Amino acid sequence: MTGKLVFLETFGCQMNDNDSLRMLSILKDLGYSRTDAPERADLIIINTCSVRGKAEHKVYSTIGRFRPLKREKPSLIIGVSGCVAQQEGERLLKRSPYLDIVFGPQNIHRLKEILSAASIGKERVVATAQSLTIDDSEYGRITPASGEKASVSIMRGCDNFCSYCIVPYTRGREVSRSSAGIIREVAALASSGVREVTLLGQNVNSYGAGGKADATFPELLRMAAGVEGIERVRFITSHPRDISEELIYLFGEEPKLCRHIHLPVQSGSDAILERMGRGYTKKEYMSKVSLFKKLYPDISVTTDMIVGFPGETEGDFKDTMDLINEVRFDNVFSFMYSPRPGTLAAGFAGQAALDVKSERLHVLQETQRGITEERNRALVGRRAEVLVEGESKARPEELSGRTSCNRIVNFQAPKALTGTLADVIITDAFPNSLRGVYQDSPSFTA
Ligand code: SAH
Ligand code: SF4
Ligand code: F3S
Repeated sequence: MTGKLVFLETFGCQMNDNDSLRMLSILKDLGYSRTDAPERADLIIINTCSVRGKAEHKVYSTIGRFRPLKREKPSLIIGVSGCVAQQEGERLLKRSPYLDIVFGPQNIHRLKEILSAASIGKERVVATAQSLTIDDSEYGRITPASGEKASVSIMRGCDNFCSYCIVPYTRGREVSRSSAGIIREVAALASSGVREVTLLGQNVNSYGAGGKADATFPELLRMAAGVEGIERVRFITSHPRDISEELIYLFGEEPKLCRHIHLPVQSGSDAILERMGRGYTKKEYMSKVSLFKKLYPDISVTTDMIVGFPGETEGDFKDTMDLINEVRFDNVFSFMYSPRPGTLAAGFAGQAALDVKSERLHVLQETQRGITEERNRALVGRRAEVLVEGESKARPEELSGRTSCNRIVNFQAPKALTGTLADVIITDAFPNSLRGVYQDSPSFTA
């Protein structure tokens, strides 16, 4: 089995990106290498997301695009993985007769047997079994996509069942990996040149909850920061209800912990938060964010917001806008509420009309664009440490990287700096990026 090509397209969140890398590592052992040209591929996998209806629909049009290729090359195997695969299972095979395999996020480690059933046994396979335990051998064999950055899944699933969210159904019950397995993976990544690691989970603050792991989340972060070669540690996502004081204070103690906290609030209205099942009030959220901002004035705070949740009134939406104006987030990822099959909120009364949702989204995004730009402009003249990722996409003569706050900075400097931390003075600010001047002498102070 050598010389085969796989075309892999990924939708959705960082967890799906991480799952795709796990698939590629399994496929590499089976003799596959990656291609950007689907028409040359022996295997096509679409790793899908179903968090909103739009993401799910994109999947069907993507699968349709590959249909003619199957006619030309009958040995081609087409597969769907990820959250739509888990949600739809058998129905996907029925709907798309040229699809060969469907496997959910908990079945990635079975890819070898799934593929051999499809190619040798000529079977159509659906693998959507979910388990309550986690086996470390399913993880820890990732080749990072870029040299300097990588992510590590520290847990799987979610037990929160926020009333709008499909993730607990597609990713299954929450279970944590052992700290030893996670740190082994971080160490292997560091020895292959990775400098920045992001610990991934739907709710990282409940890592190890119920005695299922042998460390708390702050302890795990300390361990990751202690791995030789690791210069930066990030994490995502933190649930505002579960974020502990220990974690908040860790930002003051652990210099490798990046100065960025993504704390999804979803709404500024207590009535809506209650119906979402988020487990905190606006006041409780504000007190946590205020503590962060008081202790670490340079920290970047970002969030997720949903507009047009069932029953959201003009007053509720005003509460959301008040929160946005009070906190002045560095960035907000905002979405129109999308009813998801099988979730509680899909059956709630008062589903909002599309024009109401899109108008509210527009108002929110316009306001936030101004705030993000102002907050970026306030950085002009400051010094920043940038982990250099390589040439800038828009201007190949420049390098591009990210600050500890996760802002993109473009600047001119020798290409050899790629993969290292560079000192840059910020000279210009735009809505989505910064420009800077590279400082050869690291002893420079602004
Ligand atoms: N575990 C993370 C979020 C994962 S989903 C957390 O709890 O923060 C990423 C984001 O998608 C959510 O924060 C939410 O803002 C959005 N989202 C989830 N379900 C949605 C839905 N049904 N409609 C619109 N947005 C949704
Ligand atoms: Fe979804 Fe809530 Fe779990 Fe996040 S915490 S994945 S929003 S159910
Ligand atoms: Fe991620 Fe989308 Fe699944 S956001 S967890 S890929 S539904």
